[in-house]
Amino acid sequence: MHIETIVIHAGQKPDPAYGAVMQPIYQTSTFAFKGVNKPGEFDYSRSGNPTRKALEECLAALEGAKRGFAFGTGQAAETTMLAYFNSGDHLIVHDDLYGGTYRLLTQVVAKNGVEVEFVNLRNLDALQKSLRPNTRGIWAESPTNPLMNVLDLRAIGKIGRDRNILTICDNTFLSPYFQRPLELGIDVVMHSTTKYINGHSDVVGGALITSNDKAAEKIAFLQNAMGTCAAPHDCFLVLRGIKTLAVRMEVHNRNALALAHWLEKHPKISQVLHPGLESHPQHQLAKSQATGFGGTFSFRVKGGQDQAFKLLSSVKLFTLAESLGGVESLIEHPWTMTHVSMPQDVRKSVGITEDLIRVSVGIEHIDDLIADLDQAIGR
Ligand SMILES: Cc1ncc(COP(=O)(O)O)c(C=O)c1O
Repeated sequence: MHIETIVIHAGQKPDPAYGAVMQPIYQTSTFAFKGVNKPGEFDYSRSGNPTRKALEECLAALEGAKRGFAFGTGQAAETTMLAYFNSGDHLIVHDDLYGGTYRLLTQVVAKNGVEVEFVNLRNLDALQKSLRPNTRGIWAESPTNPLMNVLDLRAIGKIGRDRNILTICDNTFLSPYFQRPLELGIDVVMHSTTKYINGHSDVVGGALITSNDKAAEKIAFLQNAMGTCAAPHDCFLVLRGIKTLAVRMEVHNRNALALAHWLEKHPKISQVLHPGLESHPQHQLAKSQATGFGGTFSFRVKGGQDQAFKLLSSVKLFTLAESLGGVESLIEHPWTMTHVSMPQDVRKSVGITEDLIRVSVGIEHIDDLIADLDQAIGR
């Protein structure tokens, strides 16, 4: 079926109890046994819950996968995935990624004995050279937050497959509407469902999705053992958000591209980082592995931090806030906001500098968005 149909129906059918067309919220911690030693399909909501099951089946269908798992936050999904690796395992991670992922890897996972190595995965030779006998995982994010670098997911998936190394891709920025990493050969997709998948900035959530049976079995065990699962009410909200994923993503994509083109011509803007622009170094690669570019991108203002702060304090329609992927437009300063958990020298070395601004372009009218940035940038 087409994704426009999957978003409405996958994992959901009229509820057997009363025929409710919308997935009911099974707000219960526990379920009555049918008799002594006879549990029903569900026994305890950490181990499984009907509302969560509906969302997990829907997420799996969206990525064309066998199994989906829903978590309390994107970070909870990452924490669960990273518990897959043991002390002494070597994990290769792309060197430019969401600051919270960097913090989790450097301040929690590495301290537990996993050898985390940051490598520029745009350079496939560097990736090949960094492989070791104990390399068990490769963690990619594409496009990256906030620099919008694009990784060759087909090539990374193949390198992983050839060496029996688990490959994981954070697909938060594009959502399965535009990019399906499992079809490109990646083993596990991770999402912060807080963003485009839910799309309304009213839930935090995460997901892991895979067709790899061994990974699925381990993730199912860890989700229950670690208790990182999503709550029933949040699952209901994410399911409701998903129903409009296709229509939302089309408008996010169109608005962001129009705004990027407009900014690229603006005399006070020095660079626009958007994979849909021909000026983006990986424009062709982006087009070859995704069907759109999403709604989030970054740009650099001339005049450094002073000009960036002036712009950020002058917006009226854009809201100065972290996060992305909601219907409303947001603007933020990675240097002082989302990426502050990365040490300054690391931020600078990858290109997250004081002049960088990230926008999450919503689904408002494009003329209003351009007018707002126009007055905020000033003449
Ligand atoms: C690309 C990416 N991955 C993961 C996360 C973490 O997700 P959450 O905030 O839902 O824990 C974020 C949050 O901004 C993100 O942008």
